[in-house]
Amino acid sequence: MGEHMIRATGLRRRFGRATALDGLDLAVPAGVVHGLLGPNGAGKSTTVRVLATLIRPDGGRAEVAGHDVVRDAARARTRIGLVGQHAAVDELLTGRQNLVLFGRLFHLTTRTARARAAELLAAFRLEEAADRPVRGYSGGMRRRLDLAAGMILAPPVLFLDEPTTGLDPRARTEVWDAVRALAEGGTTVLLTTQYLEEADRLAHSLSVIDHGRVIAEGSPDLLKSRVGGDRLDVAVADPADLPAAAAVLARISGGEPETDAAAARVGAPVADRAAALTEAVRALDAAGVEVADIALRRPTLDEVFLALTGDRSPQEPAPDDRPTARTEAAV
Ligand SMILES: Nc1ncnc2c1ncn2[C@@H]1O[C@H](COP(=O)(O)OP(=O)(O)OP(=O)(O)O)[C@@H](O)[C@H]1O
Ligand SMILES: [Mg+2]
Repeated sequence: MGEHMIRATGLRRRFGRATALDGLDLAVPAGVVHGLLGPNGAGKSTTVRVLATLIRPDGGRAEVAGHDVVRDAARARTRIGLVGQHAAVDELLTGRQNLVLFGRLFHLTTRTARARAAELLAAFRLEEAADRPVRGYSGGMRRRLDLAAGMILAPPVLFLDEPTTGLDPRARTEVWDAVRALAEGGTTVLLTTQYLEEADRLAHSLSVIDHGRVIAEGSPDLLKSRVGGDRLDVAVADPADLPAAAAVLARISGGEPETDAAAARVGAPVADRAAALTEAVRALDAAGVEVADIALRRPTLDEVFLALTGDRSPQEPAPDDRPTARTEAAV
């Protein structure tokens, strides 16, 4: 399996008449954060459960850290940490007590479990809250404690199923930082998410999955450039100039400009970003169009996702939760 920490080929899994996995392939090198992005029911959790040896596939095969997840499940399991969609920690116990308990469940001696708990509390910045009951923890602290529990045996591979669902933006950022720190320490992280921003900001590479199979993969940037490339957006000062502006963009882009009359904007895909921008400025000026704003824009991951999956968009963060810094290049 070479340098891949996780490798799956042709995974299939049915539940009754529902096909959850329909020939899913995956290859994740060591030390990266790999995202499984997909809408509800795409097969994300099923993939994680197969790879974490919790359920068996009906077909295909998978290896984690070199161990076959079916034939060598017991050994694969020792190389894996799993943080599920729902918290597994005890509310009444303190953070430290929870971690020691997890350590004992995994057959560490009390002494080793205590030492490991102290290490993890420091690593996940939970030292101050360590001896308070989890009941009083914020959402971000709980999730970090979940991550710490998943890392109790210092596994080389960690599976996270929707690690930030339901968290507020601040808590989400805290969890992202913790996941990044794990990857920097060499842990290979496979995480599922429905949040495009999370996939964009956290994952080195992505598999977009739908209907139980991978429909696109690569880095977030690669996926963005594959779908449509850059766009040039022009806002005109006078809406009466929209047709003239559209004519200029049609000539430069060779593509079909899209006009948003209400916003007095027109946009079109362009191939050569820098040249298109200079040419547009010159041509709009020559046509007597007064420009209020002109910008080159990379497609967002949202647009990529829509282009790939049609109208089955994944969940968006709540409005107060939207990314403020997009991949826009205003000029
Ligand atoms: N235990 C089960 N019994 C029956 N059907 C199941 C079971 N687990 C998953 N499925 C079905 O398999 C498909 C994939 O489910 P899965 O949970 O893997 O999707 P998901 O991508 O994790 O979705 P979500 O974003 O909602 O968590 C769905 O159609 C689901 O209804
Ligand atoms: Mg799921």
